[in-house]
Amino acid sequence: MSAARTAIVTGGGRGIGAAVARALTARGVSVTVCARTAVQLERVVREGGAVLAVAGDVSREEDVARVVMAHERELGPVDVLVNGAGILARGRVEAISPATFRAVLDVNLVGPFLCARAVIPGMRARRRGRIVNVASISGTLGTPEASAYNASKWGLIGLTKCLAEELRGDGVSCLSVSPGSVDTEMLAQTPFEPLMTAEDVAKVIVFAALDAPDAMTGSNVEVFG
Ligand SMILES: NC(=O)c1ccc[n+]([C@@H]2O[C@H](COP(=O)([O-])OP(=O)(O)OC[C@H]3O[C@@H](n4cnc5c(N)ncnc54)[C@H](OP(=O)(O)O)[C@@H]3O)[C@@H](O)[C@H]2O)c1
Repeated sequence: MSAARTAIVTGGGRGIGAAVARALTARGVSVTVCARTAVQLERVVREGGAVLAVAGDVSREEDVARVVMAHERELGPVDVLVNGAGILARGRVEAISPATFRAVLDVNLVGPFLCARAVIPGMRARRRGRIVNVASISGTLGTPEASAYNASKWGLIGLTKCLAEELRGDGVSCLSVSPGSVDTEMLAQTPFEPLMTAEDVAKVIVFAALDAPDAMTGSNVEVFG
């Protein structure tokens, strides 16, 4: 979305989200970072990667409302939402608990739904907005011991395409970016070697957020490394 003034980046405390916050800030966007660990968010702000830190859990509707309200109060209307918050749980289907499976879906899929739901009315009213969902190449693949994660990312790509169709004609667009193996704390929990940095992926997410034409709405941009 060209000339975006403000953005909320969930998962902005470390890894890909923090790199996106820094890259958006470098493009002149006023960024709010959100995650559960306040001390990590505050470090991103202290180092100039964002202007506002609001701790919250994207799977909790009341936290999402609080983040959006704080952003609007301090920085104004939300032009861009980057849904970067995510968790991983590994284990074979019969070994992971139903509670763990649900927790992954809650953060990786319900979280982006709740965040999108909170910003869409304002974006629609202003006929101005862009939502970028950080999915994964796992959102088009099957991987052993990653059923909850992969299912959440398949769902997130589906949510992206549904949002694009629902918002078509309203001046609001929605894309997903699907990275492969990125050097972050999350990847360190897997057997996979890093093939790119968070900064590499942030460049693509910033393209999706600021530069990609509205005609790309609904697209899933893959970044393999
Ligand atoms: N690393 C990869 O290879 C890779 C590949 C493809 C896609 N991705 C996706 O990229 C995104 C970022 O991952 P990453 O690799 O940067 O992982 P990371 O270093 O573990 O960072 C994840 C971020 O999400 C936040 N988060 C987790 N649960 C949250 C919740 N319930 N509410 C709010 N924030 C929450 C974390 O902070 P708190 O724990 O403090 O809440 C952290 O800031 C994720 O969606 C991930 O699935 C990563």
